[in-house]
Amino acid sequence: MALPFAVLISGRGSNLLALERATRDGRIDGRIAIVVSDRADAAGIPAANALGLATAVLEPDRGLDRAAYGEALSALLEKSGAGLVALAGFMRILDGGFVRRWQGRLLNIHPSLLPAYPGLHTHRRVLEAGERAHGCTVHYVVEELDAGPAIIQARLTVRPGEDEAVLSARVRRLEHIIYPRAVDWCAGGRLEWRDGAAWLDGKPLQAPIVEEDA
Ligand code: GRF
Repeated sequence: MALPFAVLISGRGSNLLALERATRDGRIDGRIAIVVSDRADAAGIPAANALGLATAVLEPDRGLDRAAYGEALSALLEKSGAGLVALAGFMRILDGGFVRRWQGRLLNIHPSLLPAYPGLHTHRRVLEAGERAHGCTVHYVVEELDAGPAIIQARLTVRPGEDEAVLSARVRRLEHIIYPRAVDWCAGGRLEWRDGAAWLDGKPLQAPIVEEDA
């Protein structure tokens, strides 16, 4: 049975669209129950509406603290029937209560080879450091930012003279490949959270699955 899942965005939503495509062509045995943005101007919202997906905007009001925001978000997600939550460029830090409530059912895609380069502006920082290896990581979300168990990574080699725009587009293309794969593993029960670790096919993942860019 196709698992309903939620996608949380703040902006463009290219990963959201990649996930939606994967639900349609059978690469994910699941369906998007709701798309939630914390910003009314996220470009992904009209794109999701055009695809007929249910959408909601939950902006952090003044007066709504982080915990209250997490409560309101959880209520919205639960009402949608989502059994899994995929963060896809969601720029708001989620509070501990929210993370614990969805622990093991909360995934994120991050544009670096974690644990290297947590945080923002990863492509720029990778270029400035002169790194040759870069990529993206799907991981379980824990309370510490970008620190949960890694599930799958896609790697590429930074090309000499490459600029940030080209590099980020190359990484994004890989994000669109590995995120649907991880969501499908989770939706189908192949991927599990056990005692703070990621398990795939009944075995603990000592290291993430790695895809090399062709
Ligand atoms: C992606 O680079 C993702 O890794 C990061 O935020 C960006 C979202 O892009 N978490 P998009 O909105 O999915 O195009």
